[in-house]
Amino acid sequence: MKDSDFQILKKTIEKLLGIQCGCYKEDYIKRRVLSRMRITGKEHYKDYNSFVLSDIKEQELLRNALTINVTKFYRDKEVFDLLKAEVFPKIINAKGRMRIWSAGCATGEEPYTLALIIHDLIRLKTDVQITIFATDLDREALKKAKDGIYEKRSLENLNEGQIRRHFTETEDGRFEIKPHLKGMIRFSQHDLMSGKSITNYLDMILCRNVTIYFTEEQKNDLARMFHPALVAKGFYVMGKTEFMSREVEDLYEPYNAIQKVYNKK
Ligand SMILES: C[S@@+](CC[C@H](N)C(=O)[O-])C[C@H]1O[C@@H](n2cnc3c(N)ncnc32)[C@H](O)[C@@H]1O
Repeated sequence: MKDSDFQILKKTIEKLLGIQCGCYKEDYIKRRVLSRMRITGKEHYKDYNSFVLSDIKEQELLRNALTINVTKFYRDKEVFDLLKAEVFPKIINAKGRMRIWSAGCATGEEPYTLALIIHDLIRLKTDVQITIFATDLDREALKKAKDGIYEKRSLENLNEGQIRRHFTETEDGRFEIKPHLKGMIRFSQHDLMSGKSITNYLDMILCRNVTIYFTEEQKNDLARMFHPALVAKGFYVMGKTEFMSREVEDLYEPYNAIQKVYNKK
C-alpha cells in the first residue's frame, strides 16, 4: 500500500474528523485505520479514504476507533479541582481513609492524576489510607498504565512542581511516575460489561468517557452495578459529555450536575 495514499487519508482524518494526527504515533494511527479497513473490506488506503469521505457512519466509527484509549492528565481540569477542593477533604476528614475506583483507566493518566492530587493533599498525614483501584478491558493500555512512563507533551496540564515531585526523567527524555504514586494504585483487567464490581465499600467511582460503544441499557446496567459497590452517599463521577438516564435517576442525586458528580441515594 502506498505511503502517499496514507498521507492523504491522514489529511482527511485531520480535516473531516478534527483529529490532530501529529499528536499520535504514526504506527498507532495505521493500526486503528487498518482495523477499520479489515472490518469494512477495503484493501487500499485510497479506497478507504473515498469510503470515509462519503460515509457519515464510517466517519463516526473511525473517530471512535482512533480515540478509544485517548486520555490525559487532568482531563477536564474543573472536575479534579472540585474533587481536590471539596470532595476529597470531606471524605478523608470524615473517615481517615478513602477507596476509589477509576473504571476504564486506559493508559493510567486518570488514576495517576487522582494519586498525585491526593498525595499532595495529605502530605503530612501519614496515617491516612488511600487505595485507588484502576481497571480497563484493554491489556495493552493497562501495561502502559503500570509502566507509568509518559512523553513530555502528555504532561502539559501539570505544573513544574508536580512534575518534579512525582516524575523521574528517563534517559530517553520521557517521564516516569515515581514509586510513591505507583504504590497507591492497584491496576487490573476488568470488563465493565461483566455486571460485577471489582470490590465494595468504595467512596468514589470515576467512570469517564468509557461508554461510547455502550447501548442505553448497558449504560443503565453499569450505573446499577456501581450502586451497591459504593458506600452510603458515595460519589459517582461521569464524563463531561455523558448523561445519567431517567431510568437510573432514583439511584443517584446530583452533587454537582455541571461537573457530572453524583451521590449514591
Ligand atoms: C477514552 S478512554 C477513557 C480514559 C479515562 N477514563 C478518561 O476519561 O480520560 C476509554 C477506555 O475505556 C475502556 N473500555 C471500553 N469498554 C470497556 C469495558 N467494557 N470494560 C472496561 N473498559 C472498557 C477502553 O479500553 C479505554 O481504555
